[in-house]
Amino acid sequence: MNMMPFKRKFDVTHQSVCSMTRDGRILTLRLIHPADAPLLEELFYRLSPESRWRRFHGLTDGIPPERITEQACIMTNVDNRTMEGAVVAVVREGEREHIIGVVRLARPPGQPDAAEAEAAVVVLDEYQRQGVGSELLQRMLQLARQMRVRRILAVFQPDNSDAIRLFRALGLPNRLEISRGLAKMYTELSE
Ligand SMILES: CC(C)(COP(=O)(O)OP(=O)(O)OC[C@H]1O[C@@H](n2cnc3c(N)ncnc32)[C@H](O)[C@@H]1OP(=O)(O)O)[C@@H](O)C(=O)NCCC(=O)NCCS
Repeated sequence: MNMMPFKRKFDVTHQSVCSMTRDGRILTLRLIHPADAPLLEELFYRLSPESRWRRFHGLTDGIPPERITEQACIMTNVDNRTMEGAVVAVVREGEREHIIGVVRLARPPGQPDAAEAEAAVVVLDEYQRQGVGSELLQRMLQLARQMRVRRILAVFQPDNSDAIRLFRALGLPNRLEISRGLAKMYTELSE
């Protein structure tokens, strides 16, 4: 069974949205907020080295824990309107909530009016290939509209065909460029 597309009529920028993974696990998708910092930090530590590498394009092993904590605070302290925003996929495991996927949109530093923002997405390994990435990207489009972004840049390792296919599946005009060992995809949003 696929994710439930009729749920997409609800806009994640107005309310939390429920969805379901391919194997029937319930997800909540919502905008990120500052209280998510510990959950985002936990997601980072639960990712496999490969997923971390593909998301951050570099070695993340030697980063001191306090720097990870600081980054998690920075990435959750966003207004979801001007410079940065993010949508998280949350599941309840036992008594606790966990972030199992996140898509982030960020304008270039100091350019609150820029037409372009960079997108980055990651899904916890044990939840991959369940439609979560696709659902997050659909919600990213809703966030992009709220942020008045007109072009989305996504940067991949050139062999990351899963991620490239996922962005192409949005069905929007796009252009892929390979330079300096990275693939850059520019996706145009309609008005
Ligand atoms: C790229 C990434 C975000 C994709 O997330 P995901 O949750 O696995 O994505 P989805 O499950 O939506 O789609 C992946 C595949 O599963 C398939 N799939 C999803 N739901 C399905 C369903 N119900 N039935 C059959 N197949 C399904 C999709 O068709 C897709 O396969 P395809 O690429 O062959 O078409 C994830 O692999 C990841 O976190 N990678 C590491 C970070 C990264 O690479 N980020 C990109 C650079 S910023």
